[in-house]
Amino acid sequence: MSEIRVHLSGSNTNQQVLSMNKSPAFVAVDDGYAQTKLYGDGPDGKPVKLAIRTSVRAGRYGLGSISGEAVIGSYDTEEGDQFTISDDIAAENTQFDSFHTSSMNRALVNHVLIQGGYSGRDVKLIAGLPVADFFLADGKDEEKIAAKTANLLKKVTSVSANAPVANLRDVRIGCQAVAAFVDHVLDDDLKETADMDATIAVVDIGGRTTDIAVVVRGNSIDHEKSGTTNIGVLDVYKALSKEIRAKFKTRDEFPLSQMDQAVRTGKIRLWNEENDVSAEVASIVREHETRIAREVERRLGSASNISGVLFVGGGSALFKGISARFRNGIMHDDPEFANARGLHKYGRYMAVDTAQAAE
Ligand SMILES: Nc1ncnc2c1ncn2[C@@H]1O[C@H](COP(=O)(O)OP(=O)(O)OP(=O)(O)O)[C@@H](O)[C@H]1O
Ligand SMILES: [Mg+2]
Repeated sequence: MSEIRVHLSGSNTNQQVLSMNKSPAFVAVDDGYAQTKLYGDGPDGKPVKLAIRTSVRAGRYGLGSISGEAVIGSYDTEEGDQFTISDDIAAENTQFDSFHTSSMNRALVNHVLIQGGYSGRDVKLIAGLPVADFFLADGKDEEKIAAKTANLLKKVTSVSANAPVANLRDVRIGCQAVAAFVDHVLDDDLKETADMDATIAVVDIGGRTTDIAVVVRGNSIDHEKSGTTNIGVLDVYKALSKEIRAKFKTRDEFPLSQMDQAVRTGKIRLWNEENDVSAEVASIVREHETRIAREVERRLGSASNISGVLFVGGGSALFKGISARFRNGIMHDDPEFANARGLHKYGRYMAVDTAQAAE
């Protein structure tokens, strides 16, 4: 079981404070380009689960400049940057190389912690990095991991006085695909439910990208077969938005939140009338599902040497039929939260493992 050890990195930053405060909440944040997902210890022993759209802009935007009623968070960082986070702003593209070590990422992580109910509380955090950032060909990319850890430990202040940021007592970083693997093989009590020695291909269908990672015995990655392709759910939104513009003869641009809603419900409200777009959604979803399945096949062949092809990420919830296209396909039962819950399990597992090793 201690095989997983190799994947966890981090730093105990403030041991003194930690020992004074016996019970910081343990919280995992899976900070994707489309959504920031949180899975953490809840007040009544039940976990807190939350996904917010990764919708952020540099600068300060007040209620007046945003039309809707979504929660707005405004943050200042120690570098002097300002960010506004809200579903109702025209979001900046977060897919830039240094996103994971940026002040923007730090503002988002702090925002989701506040939204999850951890405002002002002591928190031990675990966040993730995609496979391509977490691993080098011959091991972990310690430099990137350290850079992300250090970034998250820098200061952020919430502009709202009644919603201060959480106090981060410890920051650890795990690998997203390995976290999904851990979520698959360990149940909530950290008991093994699937073979940990298996080789599993994790296919994480996200907003902008689909990450394919072949996880070998939970402790290494088959780099040859692993990789990232630039197709995700946002491509579905783009195609649907184009189709709706043509069908309803409008040049309007639709916000991501409206496209997300249309994809989930098959309906869209235009000129204050509800319109059925389910046929368009079905056809666009099918087309993108086929494209993604083809990319996976290109990487894995027929996956005959792999125990299972595990589908995770919000996109897997949308492309419901994709796992059935593979003979050993496995659809995760809660794909959107697989990484976040996996990171949480992984951190808990490590704590038990470390305690046992110290005995
Ligand atoms: N049940 C569902 N039906 C339809 N769409 C869904 C469902 N669940 C999640 N999604 C959508 O899937 C998209 C991808 O979600 P996910 O959280 O995996 O992205 P991400 O991790 O931020 O992206 P990336 O991996 O590119 O960084 C989001 O736009 C989300 O709204
Ligand atoms: Mg993701």
